[in-house]
Amino acid sequence: MSEPSDALSALLHESRRFSPPPELAQRANAQPGIYAEANADPVAWWEEQARRLSWATPWDRALEWDLPFAKWFVGGKLNVAVNCVDRHVDAGLGERVAFHWEGEPGDTRTITYADLQKMVCRAANALTELGVTAGETVAIYMPMIPETVVAMLACARLGAPHTVVFGGFSADALRGRILDCDARTVITADGGYRRGAPSALKPAVDVAVADCPGVRRVLVVRRTGQDVGWNDARDVWWHDVVDRQADTHTAEMFDSEHPLYIMYTSGTTAKPKGILHTSGGYLTHVSATHRLIFDVKPESDVFWTAADIGWVTGHSYIVYGPLANATTSVMYEGTPDTPGRDRWWQIVERYKVNILYTAPTTIRTFMKWGPELIEGHDLSSLRLLGSVGEPINPEAWIWYRHHIGGDRCPIVDTWWQTETGGILITPLPGITATKPGAAMVPFPGISAAVVGEDGTPVKPGNGGYLVITQPWPGMLRGIWGDPERYRETYWSRFEGCYFAGDGAKLDEDGDIWLLGRVDDVMNVSGHRISTTEVEHALVGHPSVAEAAVVGANDATTGQAIVAFVTVKGGVADDPASGERLVVDLRDHVAREIGPIAKPRQILLTPELPKTRSGKIMRRLLRDVADNRELGDVTTLLDPTVVNAIKDRMTTGG
Ligand code: WT7
Repeated sequence: MSEPSDALSALLHESRRFSPPPELAQRANAQPGIYAEANADPVAWWEEQARRLSWATPWDRALEWDLPFAKWFVGGKLNVAVNCVDRHVDAGLGERVAFHWEGEPGDTRTITYADLQKMVCRAANALTELGVTAGETVAIYMPMIPETVVAMLACARLGAPHTVVFGGFSADALRGRILDCDARTVITADGGYRRGAPSALKPAVDVAVADCPGVRRVLVVRRTGQDVGWNDARDVWWHDVVDRQADTHTAEMFDSEHPLYIMYTSGTTAKPKGILHTSGGYLTHVSATHRLIFDVKPESDVFWTAADIGWVTGHSYIVYGPLANATTSVMYEGTPDTPGRDRWWQIVERYKVNILYTAPTTIRTFMKWGPELIEGHDLSSLRLLGSVGEPINPEAWIWYRHHIGGDRCPIVDTWWQTETGGILITPLPGITATKPGAAMVPFPGISAAVVGEDGTPVKPGNGGYLVITQPWPGMLRGIWGDPERYRETYWSRFEGCYFAGDGAKLDEDGDIWLLGRVDDVMNVSGHRISTTEVEHALVGHPSVAEAAVVGANDATTGQAIVAFVTVKGGVADDPASGERLVVDLRDHVAREIGPIAKPRQILLTPELPKTRSGKIMRRLLRDVADNRELGDVTTLLDPTVVNAIKDRMTTGG
């Protein structure tokens, strides 16, 4: 495991404090007694949260814990989609807006809870007609359009676990996921809009499913109107099959532990892991965290998680959490710079957004673009800001607070992971005096610790590893098809504890600062990418002999991918051919994994630094990539190798 970088440790010299605004504190959903109440009996406290949902059959036991396998609300039955939609309509909230949706070209749709109910029922009827049954996985590869939410909820309604694959992933990545979870149906669109132009999705599906014999049907939403290839035996248009269905549907109730979705995420190996989430515990966790951390008042607030539904942030805080709480959300299809770099601020102004949740990388991009873009817009509706995805540097935190939050909005820096289902470490906006750069404290009902190498908690003022010491309702239930890997990855490093893979420091007050990953997982713009996965893609190229990939510090994206590559037969002396190969390798990685995995920099080098036992010394390569003084090189087989690489780096080789 590597040490958190010096740059991140520098965060800890931050001493500013920001107390909750008194009016917000007074009316906050979470009041100070909440911690004591949850600590007294965490499981009972979670039961109280679960009772806010609608259950067809109550649970017998709140928690069955057979380490590392947890079951929550055992014996209880519910339907997740009914909880997110129908019960609000039944409660007379049918006219409330569920989504103010905005397409990138400027088209808009307003979808009320009553509309959403009809849309989900029609889609559920259509999926049934296409043969989807409870327990059968459906893959979703979509742009950010309302049909994506509808598709997820229709799956949930039928008890068919969905696996949403981010639209930026390649056909190969999509195929791998479809095969791993044995999806029989794929829901996609012709394309979506990105950066002012239609960006196709259907061609990638065609390539992916050509090698997926299990896929029966591909259901296609028409969004951009671009030409699509068509297989009559397999492909059906959404408007042909969904629109003619009845807009009512009788939902079956499922076990609390019925699978809700699988989300693939990068681990330390080349093969992404299918993280399994189930129903009752997950919905309890995401709805409680959404209500208490974002202080959502569903009757008046407009909430905006500016993330893609293809990531867990979108699942938990665009779809399941907000809808379970009958919230009005904003959903935006495109990029923040189209048509202009003030698109987000137009959206905040137009819909009077009250709560905005986004990632540090985006905040740093806005910093780079300059505050002038914001100043012309009325952002006075904002009352609370959230951050997620990577450690936020104090400078970005303060900028966010000042330029976007008008120095009046509390910031909640929320730490969690695909695996945790929902937020675990966070301030509460009406209670916590926040520190710029710190995620602060465990959410009520969550037990966390910072431990040293030996697994014992560190004393305040010290660094170590973040662990979660008790099961929680939204926790992953396993890795799809691989229980051993689940145990090994998360529960073997520290006995009896969930090891998140993050370094952390406990400050003198006992508050938690997250310091980044300590394994071979990179965090690029809040997206998790494994070094091994990129290495695997690179060595798959016919010219590549060996590849080592590291995450380098990057002022905007947090980390950036830097690859060191040795070439079969050696690097040609002719620089033009080297440059051509680098371009070719970057494209190759984009094809294999997706554009998000393209290395920022590829260095062709005659050799990689290795230990005497033949292990590549990534730590040294990280130093090279960050232009740091080299650490200990005494175990190197050939210490001159690193200097040769350093020379190439500085000469731009
Ligand atoms: C990794 C999980 C949580 C949804 C988006 C990412 C890093 C996440 C924070 C934060 C510091 C953070 C961690 C974690 N991370 N939030 N507030 N402060 N680091 O989900 O792709 O599963 O990535 O993101 O390193 O392990 P993910």
